[in-house]
Amino acid sequence: MGFKELVRPEVKDIKEYVPGKSIGEIAGKYGLDPDSIIKLGSNENPLGPSPRSVAAIKEKAGQVHLYPQADAIELRKAIGEYTGYPADNIVVSGNGMDGILDTIMRLFMSKGAESIIPIPTFSYYEIATLSNGGKPVFVERNSDYYIAPENILDKVNANTKMIFLCSPNNPSGNSIPEKDARKILESANAIVFIDEAYVEFASTSITSLVREYENLIVGRTFSKAFGLAGMRMGYAIMPEWIAGEYMKVMTPFSVDILSTAAGLAALSDKEHLKKSIKTVKQGRLQLLKGLETLCKVYSSHANFILADVSPKSSKEVSELLLKKGIIVRDCTSFRGAGKSLIRISVGLQEQNEIVIDAFREILC
Ligand SMILES: Cc1ncc(COP(=O)(O)O)c(C=O)c1O
Repeated sequence: MGFKELVRPEVKDIKEYVPGKSIGEIAGKYGLDPDSIIKLGSNENPLGPSPRSVAAIKEKAGQVHLYPQADAIELRKAIGEYTGYPADNIVVSGNGMDGILDTIMRLFMSKGAESIIPIPTFSYYEIATLSNGGKPVFVERNSDYYIAPENILDKVNANTKMIFLCSPNNPSGNSIPEKDARKILESANAIVFIDEAYVEFASTSITSLVREYENLIVGRTFSKAFGLAGMRMGYAIMPEWIAGEYMKVMTPFSVDILSTAAGLAALSDKEHLKKSIKTVKQGRLQLLKGLETLCKVYSSHANFILADVSPKSSKEVSELLLKKGIIVRDCTSFRGAGKSLIRISVGLQEQNEIVIDAFREILC
């Protein structure tokens, strides 16, 4: 028997997470100057981090020989003020919202258990379900990427432990109406995880419902509106009873000293947050207007928009864009997304203009 046999059998069928492409990778592959590359494939903040975060990281750099606060209470309190909850309802992760998902799944998922996942959506829900021995049950969205609550509730059975709702959804950009979320929360004997990674760019949020429902977890991140994707920091708002269980299975000292400092500083910089949101809302409109005459585009509540380039394939179009030094996200690797969807992160005004011109050259 080889050592490979020691790996848990359920891991064999997992397809690795496909990340957006990096500047280094594309510069090397196409012989491009890294500074000329426009990176709009990973929904990052085009303004960068808050200068306050940068200063806070520098200030704390000399303290990294010390462990951080074990309960991250200062950060949890600050997040609590931002979201309107006491720290007892907040948990934080030093590996982004992905880390939150990992811990949640260790808490609820097991062999024979099921999670319901409306597709296309963020692929880590599937990976986290499978790696904890569970079975992902997929539900297809309609042609506008709306998902009726009945279609989700039809899939609920005695094995259902988790229901994932991404709002705004990655990659389609639409939000779940509150009444639909309530219907699911009230009708399913399962934990409902609502992923609000992009909520700052949307007009609605489900977060206030955590006060009403004992089975609701809302996941959030510092990677998008707060411009700290590289620090890998996520958090979640949940009923106190789930937070208590979560603390039992989370990794200790889960957020490091530099991330904590950067996060606290980002939360204090309301101006940077406001400017980031404004940049995205304006750029989103610019991209929609510029692209809608060239291909089908979907209106979005997030910091990206989805374009359907059929009859061309997303692979072909995104490769032509890469050659021009523009990184977008070919959605082929998203389960249920088909072969013609491209997700474009909103960039700075001049970057958006370059993207629109490149689409015109490729599609016309
Ligand atoms: C919907 C959604 N949820 C979660 C994440 C993970 O975020 P984080 O960087 O906090 O791990 C992403 C990342 O792009 C995302 O799109």
